[in-house]
Amino acid sequence: MKFFIDTANLEEIREANDLGVLDGVTTNPSLMAKVGVSGKENVLNHYRQICDIVDGDISAEVISTDYEGIIKEGEELAALHKNIVVKVPMIKEGIKAIKYFSDKGIRTNCTLIFSPGQALLAAKAGATYVSPFLGRLDDNSTDGTDLIGTIRLIYDNYGYDTQILAASIRHTMHIIHCAELGADVITSPLKSILGLLNHPLTDIGLAKFLEDAKKFA
Ligand code: E4P
Repeated sequence: MKFFIDTANLEEIREANDLGVLDGVTTNPSLMAKVGVSGKENVLNHYRQICDIVDGDISAEVISTDYEGIIKEGEELAALHKNIVVKVPMIKEGIKAIKYFSDKGIRTNCTLIFSPGQALLAAKAGATYVSPFLGRLDDNSTDGTDLIGTIRLIYDNYGYDTQILAASIRHTMHIIHCAELGADVITSPLKSILGLLNHPLTDIGLAKFLEDAKKFA
């Protein structure tokens, strides 16, 4: 399973990358706004900086919602760096654009996926990744992990090679459940990735080993 970090914060991206297990980055307009990046040139420059830090797929989201606009913006983003994946919303114009990008060899991430039908359409259009939003489903009394299992079943039934990129991860158990269900990728805040390190018995065990080591050091 690939690990992406879901942030536009360069410090966090560096920290996750230094861990040596990072395969990519996802961003969205809200994450860009959170780190105070605004204006087209600044946004493009921010993507360039992320590409310089991480050697892996970097999702860059379009903000147009009409077909021509999505194509123009997506082509511009894709031209920034070979690792850019154009992130396109799950709307009618978005599906048409994903088909266009796919035919042109431009890789895409279909975002804002909340149902199996949406994931099926995105795969048929040739999306490289689909992003089901687990946490936001959980926030609405719907088990987000169920969606991952259903999409896995559908994709395996027909051999779609669209990768399931589990998004809107809120905690470590989301990551574990996604691994059990066969998600290809998780994209997570740094906190949940680092949370995988934690177990009190590890801390207690290490303290004891270090204490005993003093006896023969
Ligand atoms: C996915 O690519 C999105 O950037 C992200 O995972 C959304 O997460 P949120 O629901 O925590 O905003």
